[in-house]
Amino acid sequence: MNKIKKCLFPAAGYGTRFLPATKAIPKEMLPVLTKPLLQYGVEEAIEAGMDTMAIVTGRGKRSIEDHFDISYELEHQIKGTAKESYLTEIRSVINACTFSYTRQVEMKGLGHAILTGETLIGNEAFAVVLADDLCDNEEKGVLKQMSALYEKYKCCIVAVEEIAPEDSNKYGVIAGDVVKDASYAKNSLVRVNDMVEKPEPKDAPSNLAIIGRYILTPDIFDVLRNTKPGKGGEIQITDALLEMAKIGKVIAYKFDGKRFDCGSVDGFVEATNYFYAKDKS
Ligand code: UTP
Repeated sequence: MNKIKKCLFPAAGYGTRFLPATKAIPKEMLPVLTKPLLQYGVEEAIEAGMDTMAIVTGRGKRSIEDHFDISYELEHQIKGTAKESYLTEIRSVINACTFSYTRQVEMKGLGHAILTGETLIGNEAFAVVLADDLCDNEEKGVLKQMSALYEKYKCCIVAVEEIAPEDSNKYGVIAGDVVKDASYAKNSLVRVNDMVEKPEPKDAPSNLAIIGRYILTPDIFDVLRNTKPGKGGEIQITDALLEMAKIGKVIAYKFDGKRFDCGSVDGFVEATNYFYAKDKS
């Protein structure tokens, strides 16, 4: 099968940088304007033609399931009133796709969260969205761009962005050889041959950092099963992807669009201001 239909959302993390807000509310449910971060991610996946949303949750994350479900009481209360329009978007999201959930019992890292999602994905290529990275491109969403790239190259794709050298220790950083492809902007595709999780600036192999959008082929699950805990004692997706990169199966893609790191307070405020200005205009 060529087209990516499933999208995995690892959403089990503790979101400690947003405490105390995230004590009882999942980070992924924090709203930028009136919409939770996770809904932005689901809408991006729908725009890219995906119809199956697989969400890895954990304890205290039940509001995620309630959000992507019908609230009969609310529907009944506002039916026929002007307020009904507030529900239009979320209703169309619920109608456009199915949602399935599994729980990550222990938070052993992003790689482990993705492996936990195997039961929902099965044996096909899939997208991964980290909802706290909020992306925007009005013409063509980042996942849609990546899906098209996958259809051409049939390997793992990671979205990358140029970062300031001093920020390297917040990201997975890649290195590799530029792929020449006339359909894409110069230097926007790189065949990855090295990847380091959160390197100090002096050890960073480039200024290209992986952001929270991936397309993964299902052989990643076997690699993850054999991946030992890495940086911070967590099972890192970067370590698993490095194994795939060694056999030439990872392309890094400098995507077109804006990205906000809503896992940090600064990025969250920036995103809020950006979407507010966009909404007003
Ligand atoms: P982060 O490290 O950004 O999220 O993980 P976090 O741990 O929730 O946030 P802080 O650092 O404590 O503030 C990136 C993504 O991976 C998920 C998170 O939910 C987030 O979407 N994740 C991380 C899991 O699902 N499970 C994990 O064990 C770790």
